[in-house]
Amino acid sequence: MSLTIGYIVGSLSAESVNRRLVGALRSLADNNITFVEIPIGDLPLYNRDLDEDYPVEALALKEAIDGSDGVLIVTPEYNRSVPGSLKNALDWASRPYGENAFAGIPVGVIGASVGSTGTSMAQQHVRNTLTFLDAPTLQQPEAFIHYTPQRFADDGTILDSSTREFLTDWMEAFIAWVRLFVSRDTTTEENSSAAAS
Ligand code: FNR
Repeated sequence: MSLTIGYIVGSLSAESVNRRLVGALRSLADNNITFVEIPIGDLPLYNRDLDEDYPVEALALKEAIDGSDGVLIVTPEYNRSVPGSLKNALDWASRPYGENAFAGIPVGVIGASVGSTGTSMAQQHVRNTLTFLDAPTLQQPEAFIHYTPQRFADDGTILDSSTREFLTDWMEAFIAWVRLFVSRDTTTEENSSAAAS
């Protein structure tokens, strides 16, 4: 079954190692998975005064999440937490009240850092928000990627077999997680049609 995975890069940097990590992850996925970036760089800062007149960038964000079978969040860690750009996107996606785009959307969180803690604290903080947003989030395996020149080439190509194996396993777990929710939706729809006929 083909799947559409929307992905959010938590870094706005053109040189982002997390953007390179997305490339590496995509290279490990099956051909029947379509990856679509959900951009966050042009979102204004969230302001609840705009709830009645949502900015087009924020509407596009919500539509892209809604149109994804699952969402992949690939984030750096800033000062032991979530980059403001990513938190801002999560806030826009969650509103207006009662119209949270993440509800029921399966999510995978992963991140790379040049530091050895590999974004563990940022990921935990993202999970905190996703729990409140009722987004079923892959719990295990966790993936805290220490981005080093021994593991990744300048363009993000994976250089060593253990990193390749680890990321392959992580992607398989994430895609299996998404499929779980897609097949559950399909079964529910089939049951409703059977009940209605
Ligand atoms: C960082 N960096 C960082 N790294 C880390 O492991 N833990 C941290 O708390 C922080 N804090 C932090 C704050 C700010 C403002 C910056 C700019 C950087 C370093 C970070 O891992 C490194 O810059 C990565 O390259 C950022 O990811 P992208 O932007 O390359 O994807």
